[in-house]
Amino acid sequence: MDYKQLVAAALAPALPDLTQDAILDKIEQPKTSKQGDLAFPTFTLAKTLHKAPQMIASDIVEKVDDSDFEKVVAMGPYVNFFFKKAAFAADILGQVLTNGGHFGDGKLGEQGQVPIDMSSPNIAKPISMGHLRSTVIGNSLANILSKLDYQPVKINHLGDWGTQFGKLITAYKMWGSEAEVKADPINNLLKYYVRFHKEDVDHPEMDDEAREWFKKLENGDEEATHLWSWFRSESLKAFKKIYQRLDIDFDSFKGEAFYNDKMQEVVDILEDKHLLQESQGAEVVDLSKYDLNPALIKKSDGATLYITRDLAAAIYRKRTYDFVQSLYVVGNEQTNHFKQLKAVLTEMGFDWADQIHHIPFGLITSGGKKLSTRSGRVILLDKVLDDAVTLAHEQIEAKNPDLPNKDEVADAVGIGAVVFHDLKNERMNSFDFNLEEVVRFEGETGPYVQYAHARAESILRKAGSPEIAATDQTLSDPAAWDTLKLLSEFPATVVRASTEYEPSVIAKYAIHLAKAFNKYYANTKILVEDDELNARLALVKSVSIVLKEALRLLGVKAPDEM
Ligand code: ARG
Repeated sequence: MDYKQLVAAALAPALPDLTQDAILDKIEQPKTSKQGDLAFPTFTLAKTLHKAPQMIASDIVEKVDDSDFEKVVAMGPYVNFFFKKAAFAADILGQVLTNGGHFGDGKLGEQGQVPIDMSSPNIAKPISMGHLRSTVIGNSLANILSKLDYQPVKINHLGDWGTQFGKLITAYKMWGSEAEVKADPINNLLKYYVRFHKEDVDHPEMDDEAREWFKKLENGDEEATHLWSWFRSESLKAFKKIYQRLDIDFDSFKGEAFYNDKMQEVVDILEDKHLLQESQGAEVVDLSKYDLNPALIKKSDGATLYITRDLAAAIYRKRTYDFVQSLYVVGNEQTNHFKQLKAVLTEMGFDWADQIHHIPFGLITSGGKKLSTRSGRVILLDKVLDDAVTLAHEQIEAKNPDLPNKDEVADAVGIGAVVFHDLKNERMNSFDFNLEEVVRFEGETGPYVQYAHARAESILRKAGSPEIAATDQTLSDPAAWDTLKLLSEFPATVVRASTEYEPSVIAKYAIHLAKAFNKYYANTKILVEDDELNARLALVKSVSIVLKEALRLLGVKAPDEM
């Protein structure tokens, strides 16, 4: 139990009308340590209890179970709790040292499989910063959920189907070359596609041809299928290089094309339930009772659409994984799409539609401007990662030129910095990308947290890497108190990150813990031979364990030396 919950539990018998959460909400940190470690204000209860706050405070003190505390006293309108610091330290350090990286593991409500639709870039186009956000948020949610005993399934719903492939095939047949595509698939395929859009303005017959090719593709024509599958595999190869650098893997690469033969069933169910309406030759589902625009299921030429494929995918995932939740980590701009998806599934009679959660996120801008492939204002991910690693290299060279495995560490620091920066921002916040800021060793950055971890490891090395027993860590040092309290909060932090689908909760926690530890370390001599040396080392070891685990949950490495 963390220190706040301990107080809430002690208060509960004295406050039968309040829930545990309501009590937790009111508990505050007193201004000075003279007023104890935590306090419970009674002002808001005065009205309902028709008593003066001072009276309420002394009544509560009579009723609380104070056995876990050094003392519990009423001070004016507050109930103040003083912890048995040494015992608390022993308890929390014992838990961390015994469980190691498993400290904070837990179980929450209904367990089971949780598909996470994440990354999902489009074939023949570069991975955008938005896809990067989806990738790192999805990956972190998978780590967090799996720590809480869910079974996440990471699904890359590749954008590998749609009329644009008709255009791409047409363009390739006009101007493409095999050698070019092999050498640099993404950029050259994009080049053909962009040229198609320039030239079809004056040559509308190109659009007819593109429609023809997509028809052929849908019907399994050999040449069309061959080109499509080649574009797909070349693009996927390029994507996988980036995933490898991020050290992120997927359980499934079933993209939109996979659902090609599964959409008829969707249309059949919709027809059976009389949900399809004709609108200007197209087939739509009316969603006005949800206050949403109609969902366009089939175009007038019979072609199916993005949402039709998502309907088929949702049903497929329910059947395949029997999920307890199904997550879609996709930008904010698709909020309406996912509302429509849920509404249509509800109309179809699937009661599991409410297990579907869109996890939206804000935009990444550059110099305050929106990025877009069309306008050519793009941040190329590979280049960002290269530049981040180069900057990390420079800083390591300046700080620790004798470090043996510099390349490996620079990789962990540079790439970790980009991932951490993305995750420390609350997901709905848009933010501007500035590489220098991302890779700094100070401030609220990934390298700062990694550095605190490496510093803890270096202290342990200097101490001769002793075996630290998990029991009897009686640490009375007041400077250690903030760090200890934070350690005790880690399990509740993991839970909060999961219920809010918010990795930034973990990132912010890691920054706080690193800061508290740096402060402790700056004010306290750790490696002095006295009675509490072992306890201080236990604290250092515990900080190292929890920082490393927090970074792991974010998908960031923690080198032992940097
Ligand atoms: N490929 C889409 C895009 O880049 C994202 C797909 C998201 N996933 C989904 N099931 N719709 O915009």
